[in-house]
Amino acid sequence: MSVLSILEFPDPRLRTKAETVRTFDAELKQFVADMFETMYAANGVGLAATQVNVHQRVLVADMSDERNQPLALINAEILEKDGAQVYQEGCLSFPGIYADVTRALKVKVRANDVDGNEIIVEAEGPLAVCIQHEMDHLAGKVFVDYLSPLKRSLLLKRLEKQRKQAASA
Ligand code: NI
Repeated sequence: MSVLSILEFPDPRLRTKAETVRTFDAELKQFVADMFETMYAANGVGLAATQVNVHQRVLVADMSDERNQPLALINAEILEKDGAQVYQEGCLSFPGIYADVTRALKVKVRANDVDGNEIIVEAEGPLAVCIQHEMDHLAGKVFVDYLSPLKRSLLLKRLEKQRKQAASA
């Protein structure tokens, strides 16, 4: 397995729309394993293929404290959404940046597993947030897109400042 490098905002490749996965082979299983390894190594709770510059509809998530509930969704689509919640989100493509985003409280998702079987996942709360956030990445969307222009520019200035400090450290 290998840890993949993660694209950081404002990399334009984060705006790429991912394509549907049609081949469920050993290469896909290896890629999913690498995505889990990358997500765990970065202490993330979710990762979309877009973020590692692979433009296929693959996402992984694990919201558990024990890091033992891996969920891989391929070609995920939302069948139903219900309610609303505000959750403070972060993103591995925006290190150190967090912001409140309003999303559906519950989602019912149809997807494929790594073998190509159809699965239905019903998620609520933080896992529902995570799935919606990662599905956005696959559509070329990032969480700061939901913020007001003022809030977004403040956060992006902070990201820039942190980068400069990291570079000079
Ligand atoms: Ni993200």
